[in-house]
Amino acid sequence: MPKLLTILLSGLIFGLAACSSPPPAKAETPPKVAGAAQSAAEQTTDKEALNNAGANNEKRSIKMNTTANQTGKAIVVYYSRTGENYSVGNIKVGNTAKVAMEIAKQSGADLFEIKPVKAYPANYKECIEVARQEKEANARPQIAVAVEHFEQYSTVYLGYPNWWGDLPMIVYTFIESQDFAGKTVIPFVTHEGSGLSGTPQKLRQVLPKATVTEGLAISGSTAQNRPDEVAKKAAELIKQKG
Ligand SMILES: Cc1cc2nc3c(=O)[nH]c(=O)nc-3n(C[C@H](O)[C@H](O)[C@H](O)COP(=O)(O)O)c2cc1C
Repeated sequence: MPKLLTILLSGLIFGLAACSSPPPAKAETPPKVAGAAQSAAEQTTDKEALNNAGANNEKRSIKMNTTANQTGKAIVVYYSRTGENYSVGNIKVGNTAKVAMEIAKQSGADLFEIKPVKAYPANYKECIEVARQEKEANARPQIAVAVEHFEQYSTVYLGYPNWWGDLPMIVYTFIESQDFAGKTVIPFVTHEGSGLSGTPQKLRQVLPKATVTEGLAISGSTAQNRPDEVAKKAAELIKQKG
């Protein structure tokens, strides 16, 4: 079957599957991404730093800037993938990352990127398959960099792409590795048709001692290409902090 037809058919199948499956697979500049949380003020747009951070998949832990920690009571934690993706092409900054950075910028929250020890394939179709297998196996992929002093945060903006109508399994790895008792979790998802897919409810089940807000969904292509819309949505989400 010609490649284009295969992709189109995949899209149709995903669309039919109650809009909770991955759609089929277009590009840009990264923000800063270190391992540990940083204040929005510490963020840079240094492409090299991003690339270096992304290339280093060793398990490690990075000390946070203590000055930032003293002031930061909220943190934006997110997972986001670069490479080939549906509707946005080959991206250097993930869709969810764009929203995460805007939330951190507007709210002054620290920023932490969940990085896998084993990077997900940059190829969209390959990634779809890996993610499907992980979901089926209820896998808990390892995280390369640990967040430090998570206890100091009372609000966690939690960002992830919709993968197969669920959170990526690596986000479960993160939430199960931390104590969320008493924290407010504000979910935000980027997607290509499935929206939140009930993920706030799933989070409530996994985090019974946390308060999980209704959250917010934004399409990946909007996140990638419409900064004004991202700014509006981020402001909307921040209001959920109460
Ligand atoms: C493995 C995988 C599974 C996906 N599954 C869905 C899905 O079930 N529903 C949906 O609307 N979009 C799905 N998508 C599209 C992503 O949710 C969307 O492109 C998102 O904005 C990607 O965010 P990121 O760039 O931060 O990784 C999937 C994408 C991938 C790579």
